[in-house]
Amino acid sequence: GKVAVLLGGFSAEREVSLMSGQGVLAALQRSGVDAHAFDLAGHELSELKRAGFARAFIALHGRFGEDGTVQGALELMGIPYTGPGVLASSLSMDKLMSKRLWRAEGLSTPNWRQVRSAAQTEAALAALGAPMIVKPAREGSTIGLSKISHPSECAAAYALAARCDPEVLCEQYIAGDEVTVALLGQGEAVQALPLIRIVVPGGNYDYEHKYFSDETQYLVPSGLPAAEEAAIQQLAVQAYQSLDCRGWSRVDVMIDAASRRPYLLELNSSPGMTGHSLVPMAAQAVGISYEALCLQLLASASL
Ligand code: DAL
Ligand code: MG
Repeated sequence: GKVAVLLGGFSAEREVSLMSGQGVLAALQRSGVDAHAFDLAGHELSELKRAGFARAFIALHGRFGEDGTVQGALELMGIPYTGPGVLASSLSMDKLMSKRLWRAEGLSTPNWRQVRSAAQTEAALAALGAPMIVKPAREGSTIGLSKISHPSECAAAYALAARCDPEVLCEQYIAGDEVTVALLGQGEAVQALPLIRIVVPGGNYDYEHKYFSDETQYLVPSGLPAAEEAAIQQLAVQAYQSLDCRGWSRVDVMIDAASRRPYLLELNSSPGMTGHSLVPMAAQAVGISYEALCLQLLASASL
């Protein structure tokens, strides 16, 4: 039957989603799938049912796409969709909720504080130490994120994050290697793909360096010792299972340079599929082409 590639939407990551969705759409079409783009902005999701779509490939990022809302609507319409379900999507969209859950499960994540004002952000800096990350709880692609070291920077950092989301968190900054782990599958059959180590000149892996820079280096194989890589893959699998994910996701991790301890930053339940994105890169490293990855994800679509 017909497949809808859901893309665009209303979030701050709309531009990224359009790039992801166009990539997925073209790959599915090249593979002979009767796939059509469906931009959530400008269309009622209920049109999917009337138009006779049998399945949905979710290439949306951020709120109203990655956060369980679209997943819930598709459940109601009985249209199977790719990626994690309602609960897993909502929990992983919200960095405060996923960190609370991981901490409760004994999984390593940097210390944090939820803050509701610039003054609380200053108090968090005193408590967590410098440098510190200030970011919206439910946003992606580093939008609204600041790395600060001085009390004088707190007000602006808080205001920037709060413009994206009233829920703001401060997080201890972990200096060291930045890696990401792509995960496929569900239940006992979760597969962690090889780590990708991200090296950015200046160390600032921001929106520009994620999607538009040629300076960012992606190392796969990661160059980390095999035992360290395996331990981080295991941590990512636990992070994925604890949030009850299925289909696929990508877990971002920082490795403390001094202790070599890994820390979970977040889980992306609808990872980027752009030309610069990391899940396709990790899949490629184990011989799964972009097309094969899209077909595998589509085959895993469920309710
Ligand atoms: N939030 C972006 C799309 C990612 O994690 O790939
Ligand atoms: Mg993210």
